Amino acid sequence: MEKLAKFAENAYPPALVILETQILTMETTLLLLKPDALHRGLVGRILTRFEEKGLQLVGMRLMRMSQEIAAKHYAEHVERPFYPGLVSFMTCSPIVALALRGPDAIAVARRLMGKTFGIEADAGTIRGDFGCSKSYNLIHGSDSAESAARELGIFFPEGTEDWDLITSPWLWDAE
Ligand code: RTP
Ligand code: MG
Repeated sequence: MEKLAKFAENAYPPALVILETQILTMETTLLLLKPDALHRGLVGRILTRFEEKGLQLVGMRLMRMSQEIAAKHYAEHVERPFYPGLVSFMTCSPIVALALRGPDAIAVARRLMGKTFGIEADAGTIRGDFGCSKSYNLIHGSDSAESAARELGIFFPEGTEDWDLITSPWLWDAE
C-alpha cells in the first residue's frame, strides 16, 4: 500500500501542478500520406515523426481517394493549372488518412511537414528529408482550424477515436 502511494505520488510530472492554468489549444488535424509515401515504403517512418513529437493518433485509414473525394478535398484548387495532375496523382493508388490530436496540432504538423516542395523544404522536415520533387511531396496537412474540421468530415465522417493518452501529462504540459 505504501509502495502504491509512493508510485501515485510520482506518477504525474511535478510541473503539471505549476502549469495547470496554462491554456492550450487542443486541436485535431487531418493528414494524408500520399501515394508516393506508400510506394516508397515511408508510411511507418513518417508516422513515427508525429508519434515522436507527441501527437496522438485518433484516426487511421488505408483507402482509395475517389474522384468525388478528390474534388471535395481539393475544391479550393479547382482552377489551378496543377489541379488535373494533382487529382490523377492522388487517385492513382491508395493513401493513408490520419487524424492526429495535440496542442496546436495543425501548426505543429505543418512545421514537421515542411514547405510544399521537397526541393525548398528545410532539412529536418518530412518533405525536406524525403523528397525533391515538386509534384510528389508525400504528405498533405490541414492548414487551418476551418480546413481541419472540413477535411476530418470528409475522411472520418463517423468521427475520430476518443481515447486517453496516458503519457499526455508528460507531453502536453496540462490539458
Ligand atoms: P497540401 O495541401 O498537400 O498539404 O500542400 P500545401 O498546403 O503545402 O500546398 P497547396 O498549395 O495547398 O497545394 C496542394 C498540393 O498541390 C500540389 N501542387 N503542385 N506544381 C505545382 O505548382 C503545385 N502546386 C501545388 C502539391 O502536391 C501540393 O501539396
Ligand atoms: Mg494545402
